[in-house]
Amino acid sequence: QAQADTVKIGVILPMTGQSASTGKQIAAAIALFQAQNGKKAGGKTVEVLIKDDAGVADNTRRLAQELVVNDKVVALAGFGLTPLALATAPIATQSKTPMVVMAAATSAITEASPYITRTSFTLPQAAVAMGDWAPKNGIKKVVTLVTDYGPGNDAERYFADRILLNSGQVLEKLRTPLRSPDFAPVLQKVRDAKPDALFVFLPSGQGAQFMKQFGERGLDKAGIKLIGTGDITDDDQLNDMGDVALGVVTTQHYSAAHPSAMNKKFVADFQAMHKFRPNFMAVGGWDGMRLLYNGLNASKGAGNDALMAALKGQVFESPRGQILIDAQTREIVQDIYTRRVEKKDGQLWNIEFDVQKSVKDPGKQK
Ligand code: DHB
Repeated sequence: QAQADTVKIGVILPMTGQSASTGKQIAAAIALFQAQNGKKAGGKTVEVLIKDDAGVADNTRRLAQELVVNDKVVALAGFGLTPLALATAPIATQSKTPMVVMAAATSAITEASPYITRTSFTLPQAAVAMGDWAPKNGIKKVVTLVTDYGPGNDAERYFADRILLNSGQVLEKLRTPLRSPDFAPVLQKVRDAKPDALFVFLPSGQGAQFMKQFGERGLDKAGIKLIGTGDITDDDQLNDMGDVALGVVTTQHYSAAHPSAMNKKFVADFQAMHKFRPNFMAVGGWDGMRLLYNGLNASKGAGNDALMAALKGQVFESPRGQILIDAQTREIVQDIYTRRVEKKDGQLWNIEFDVQKSVKDPGKQK
């Protein structure tokens, strides 16, 4: 019987709606991974089922239930936004199904089920690095601007805590809604507050619109530096942002310009197959597939607790650098880079100039 030789991975992504670029990037990365590595793992054929939740948590929950009960998937993966991952956590726990978070980045997600692990990043990992860099580089007074939900809360809190520790000052904490944000009113407040810099976290897909308004309102010309987590200089959009993005410094785990041999091949193969540049979501998807293939090889195709055990403690080289899945927390440990947007051969890139090695999630250490 053919079925016995197949394992299914259920990938739930926002393929439509406001976060569709995340779905597009991760689905593309999964297709590349299987084209490069074949469809066999643990002696079985790996079939990937991609489902569109349109970024709506009720859809994610329903699709996860169907994938577990009807399709008998060996793992769930994807999860483009924090609420979508959190909505699925109880299903992973009840069915003992390993769940690989490839995108969402609120620290607390991995604590929502013992079956959750992650190949993206956490906002505390990225934000703390910026709280160290900024005050050492002449930035003492800041305003923060984040999207008003899990990852924004994490970015604001961990950046603010660290910059205060480093004798900096937070003049104001501003927030915009996840759905259809309007940046004009908050940018006016930033102008009036006259900080040395504005620190920003926005989810992937919102950076270009923000950058445009930042430039149009003349904040760059008013001498207000723009800093943030790498979500705002997202490689999915960066090349179309124009000169307003030049010089913006961000901290994050992945840049398409990362100068390793493995990343150069990853970016070249991705662009040849898909005709666009991979971003940090793509690398989370590609590494998530590596994690699952390695896990299935170790569990000989078995799922549930055998597969979960095989996901914990894995160490491998990613296009971003070496990564580890901490066996205790199931959280990713990775290098965090400080990068500046520069133009090279007519294209905009996040050029890495500093690194903090093997950063654990600061959110797990409180
Ligand atoms: C999340 C979503 C994003 O697009 C991002 O860049 C970071 C975090 C989230 O919802 O967790």
